[in-house]
Amino acid sequence: MNRIDLNGRVAIVTGGASGLGLAAAERLIASGAMVKLWDTEEGKLSASVATLDQGQATTRVVDVTNLEAVERAAADVFERNGKIDILVNSAGIAGPVKQCVDYPIDAWHRVLAVNLTGVFHCCRAIVPFMKAGSYGRIINVSSMAGKEGNPDQIAYVASKAGVIGLTKGLAKEVALTGVIVNAVAPGVFGTPFANAVFEENPEYVEGLLRKIPLNRMGRLDEFGALVAWLASQECSFSTGFTYDLSGGRASY
Ligand SMILES: NC(=O)c1ccc[n+]([C@@H]2O[C@H](COP(=O)([O-])OP(=O)(O)OC[C@H]3O[C@@H](n4cnc5c(N)ncnc54)[C@H](O)[C@@H]3O)[C@@H](O)[C@H]2O)c1
Repeated sequence: MNRIDLNGRVAIVTGGASGLGLAAAERLIASGAMVKLWDTEEGKLSASVATLDQGQATTRVVDVTNLEAVERAAADVFERNGKIDILVNSAGIAGPVKQCVDYPIDAWHRVLAVNLTGVFHCCRAIVPFMKAGSYGRIINVSSMAGKEGNPDQIAYVASKAGVIGLTKGLAKEVALTGVIVNAVAPGVFGTPFANAVFEENPEYVEGLLRKIPLNRMGRLDEFGALVAWLASQECSFSTGFTYDLSGGRASY
């Protein structure tokens, strides 16, 4: 059987300094792609890139909430490489665990800005370069929270449901251009993001874990494997779909 072949592909991974984004980058590189890691955390970027194949990975501090910064970084990748084939939108934050009526307004705006507007900014800036090459694969990281609607995480849930809608709408807009757009809805993975929620709200997370029929958290390599396929030419007849990666915690 052939392996997933991403040789010569140019990929951008937002939130690439950590967790699921870094796992995706690792697997894309293992499949032959060159990967640009974008993140706000310079120190984490340097530490993470050191764990990857140095010839295949570069880093840049990019805040996805800043459209101009995203546009400059995207143009730079295109100028240097002549194309952008793959975009993985993994940058995200959890926000507080609080009921809607107590949810801090500034946290609402911040979570929406990073998790939803950030994905919009990256797609807006990068789709024209993909269209120019008549080829592209976009993978947006949503969440099971966006499908099911976890209680006490109203901004996170709304942002991740928004990512599912954005994925569907954009996929149809670009359906005849060679650009394929899908999303992944992870359940629970032991990343720094999830660990922070675990530490602050152990009972809340226990409840999430009890919902998983496979009775464990996801592994980072399992996320990387799905992203690698979605990023490949072999993913050619699925677009606008959100793939669960949840150990069987199906919703719809
Ligand atoms: N870990 C889980 O259980 C889980 C479950 C469902 C969905 N997700 C989603 O997966 C994605 C990755 O999460 P993770 O678990 O790897 O978390 P993580 O904290 O390990 O990684 C997220 C990265 O995004 C970066 N980031 C935050 N704000 C940014 C911004 N404005 N611009 C650029 N980068 C920014 C952070 O610096 C960090 O490196 C997130 O979108 C998250 O919502 C995670």
